[in-house]
Amino acid sequence: MYKTVLVNKDNKIKENFLKKVELIEVKSTEEKDILIEKETYNAYQKLAEFLKEKGIIIGIESAYRSVEYQQQIYDEFVIEYGKDYAEQVVAPVGRSEHHTGLAIDINIKTNGKWQQNHEELFSQEETYKEIHNYLKDFGFILRYPKSKEDVTGYPYEPWHIRYIGKVIAEIIYKNNWTLEEYKNEFSGVIAVNKKQGMTSFDVVNEISHIFGIKKVGHTGTLDPLAEGVLIVAIGKATKIVELLTAEDKEYIAEVKLGLMTDTYDITGKIIREKTVQENIDIKETLKSYQKTYQQEVPIYSAIKVNGKKLYEYARNNKEVQLPKKEVTIKKIELLEETKDTFKFKSLVSKGTYIRSLINDVGNSLNTYATMTSLLRTKQGKINLEATSTLEDIKNNNYRLYMIEEVLDYPVIMVDKDLEFKISNGQKIKNIYNITDKVIFKTNKKVLGIYQVEENNLKVWKNFV
Ligand code: DAL
Ligand code: ZN
Repeated sequence: MYKTVLVNKDNKIKENFLKKVELIEVKSTEEKDILIEKETYNAYQKLAEFLKEKGIIIGIESAYRSVEYQQQIYDEFVIEYGKDYAEQVVAPVGRSEHHTGLAIDINIKTNGKWQQNHEELFSQEETYKEIHNYLKDFGFILRYPKSKEDVTGYPYEPWHIRYIGKVIAEIIYKNNWTLEEYKNEFSGVIAVNKKQGMTSFDVVNEISHIFGIKKVGHTGTLDPLAEGVLIVAIGKATKIVELLTAEDKEYIAEVKLGLMTDTYDITGKIIREKTVQENIDIKETLKSYQKTYQQEVPIYSAIKVNGKKLYEYARNNKEVQLPKKEVTIKKIELLEETKDTFKFKSLVSKGTYIRSLINDVGNSLNTYATMTSLLRTKQGKINLEATSTLEDIKNNNYRLYMIEEVLDYPVIMVDKDLEFKISNGQKIKNIYNITDKVIFKTNKKVLGIYQVEENNLKVWKNFV
């Protein structure tokens, strides 16, 4: 996560940080050899070429700085501008973003010469402003924007840009945020199209890595074999994980008849085989499962019994009574069949194991049945068409859903009075005829989700 690191007055650079980055040597505007992080420099070159076409010549005044060099800069500033100004504009040693190699002070060449000091740099403000519009397209942000001194700790610096990658640069630009605000505020829901081979946890890790946000959670596990809709919540949106996990899910599964494996899917070890009889009625048998029933949890699952996960019993060859859970198969439909395979689509309630359903159907067909593929086509309101692969997301081609878009609850825009009450988690009268939950928001953000309690609405989750 080196690219999303936050270094400021409150966050010192970690000692081992430089082990994670590759610094390369380049020339500064003064033709000195300086160091810069490699990807940052590649992005910088693209930015510089683009600007050159527009008649703007930029150069690197300063990039990576060692702690000794930061100290030297501070000392020089004290001499040139006095201690007060130096303290205001130069970061304390160990707390400069320049220690990361990801920050660049850009200079602008005018009339064949570089700007020499802060006054001269500020005289180029109009050109800097034009440059700021293009930064995000190259993965940079303006790190110390105007009127954000209370957040960043530094006055406006039109020249100091920071490489963070296009995905985050775009979000920061659109929201008019600083990196600090992004780290605190960024939240939402992404519908990922998970590919085969990855665990759901791998997807969560990748998302966490792409966005540089630690708080990420998925809402309903897909095994490595399975693919399709995996809804991932980021930041404050992780507060609704349990609501999303509880939603109905739709799957298309493929089945091989005559086989039973220990995991109930084709990745497992074959433990039983049985010939498939002629004239079995798969369509009718599937239909008979359109009901609510007590489904036995598969042994290869993470459900705990007496504090231990079921798959641990399986791996240690220990006997265990498999728990049963009530599930509802809301719709089930045969799509294709051959003599010993079939494909079906089903809409199921929370906690349904499709591989167990398949195993049950196999028993009803007087044979065994094993899942050979599984595609989640829908979860709640989100279908496969609304998803993005991890590649898409890395290429900045994805949609971030706000929680009110993925939940099916009424949304109420608050006035000032109500905003105050909700922000303080106060109970309010249910004058809105809410029957379950309701989302309260301002035009900028969700304040909270409330739920009915007798004649009142009380806080379920607070988002402020
Ligand atoms: N001028 C910036 C804040 C630094 O010294 O890192
Ligand atoms: Zn700087």
